[in-house]
Amino acid sequence: MAATYSIGQPALDDDHDRMIAAWRELEASRTLDAAKTAAAVLMSEAAEHFAREEQFMLQCGYPDRVRHTAMHAEMASGLRRVLLSPLMGGGKHEDFVGAVRNLMDRWVRVHILGEDTKLAPYARNFAAPVRRAAGAARR
Ligand SMILES: [Fe+2]
Ligand SMILES: [Fe+2]
Repeated sequence: MAATYSIGQPALDDDHDRMIAAWRELEASRTLDAAKTAAAVLMSEAAEHFAREEQFMLQCGYPDRVRHTAMHAEMASGLRRVLLSPLMGGGKHEDFVGAVRNLMDRWVRVHILGEDTKLAPYARNFAAPVRRAAGAARR
């Protein structure tokens, strides 16, 4: 994870890395089938990540959680639309890769850099209570 993307919550940072890796895989693909396979991985990474990040926001009392969650839903539906596009006809490899690129480029710049980074202070503050709670549970 590039330092500028990091929010300091390892599971969420790893998720972002995996999503970007799947996007890179898609960019490197040579055929529509290979691109679709990478896009399916991206979609599943995104779904898991959104659930994890939403759970984190709930646990740490992030005040803008509802708006942030709505952005995740919008991105998930954008990804679904793009993923289905090759089935709807046309289906040129470069068009598909370009459509995913438009979505992901905006997502990284606007959402990960602009929104997810706002979670960083909560990740720092939340680290201590999580450890205390884990200790208490062991008793
Ligand atoms: Fe997010
Ligand atoms: Fe995120």
